Amino acid sequence: MKRLKKSITIATVALSMSLAAGFAAATSEETLAKVPAEAAGLTNPVEADDDAIKKVFKKGYKKKCKKCHGSKGNGKGPGAKGMEPPPPDWTAGSSATDGQLYWLIMNGSKDTEMKGWKAGVAKKGKEVSEEEAWTMVHIIRGFQK
Ligand code: HEC
Repeated sequence: MKRLKKSITIATVALSMSLAAGFAAATSEETLAKVPAEAAGLTNPVEADDDAIKKVFKKGYKKKCKKCHGSKGNGKGPGAKGMEPPPPDWTAGSSATDGQLYWLIMNGSKDTEMKGWKAGVAKKGKEVSEEEAWTMVHIIRGFQK
């Protein structure tokens, strides 16, 4: 009986750990539901140009996103400690469409620490342009291992 209890405990811990990892990896349905349908279907109009991606990574992502999303996009930036919901782990890919990622960058995810970056929403001088945001979508895809 004692043994059985122990193995049940181990199984429960293992299950909850894998569930926690699963939730961190995928964008939740709740978050995706915040994006209007017409925005979700948009395709990335900006070409995946290596030089542009490098530049936006250095001048935009590292300054504005890395703090929470981490330099490898795993959601483990120093600013993300204890955050609920946590930033997603993009190294496991993303279930979001390009249009959904773009919309969430620009508008933020309401009631979370993910604030919007478009003009009029972001702090003055911190805005992310449309072209930069679409390039960030390429950067996010590039984190997938
Ligand atoms: C203060 C911390 C913080 C900063 C800074 C931040 N984010 Fe986020 N981000 C989050 C959190 C937390 C979530 C999860 C929100 C949710 O689950 O709805 C998130 C979610 C997202 C999503 C939603 C899609 C997905 O894959 O789950 C995108 C896209 C995103 N962030 C991009 C960015 C970009 C690009 C920047 C920089 C311009 C940035 N974020 C800056 C905390 C942050």
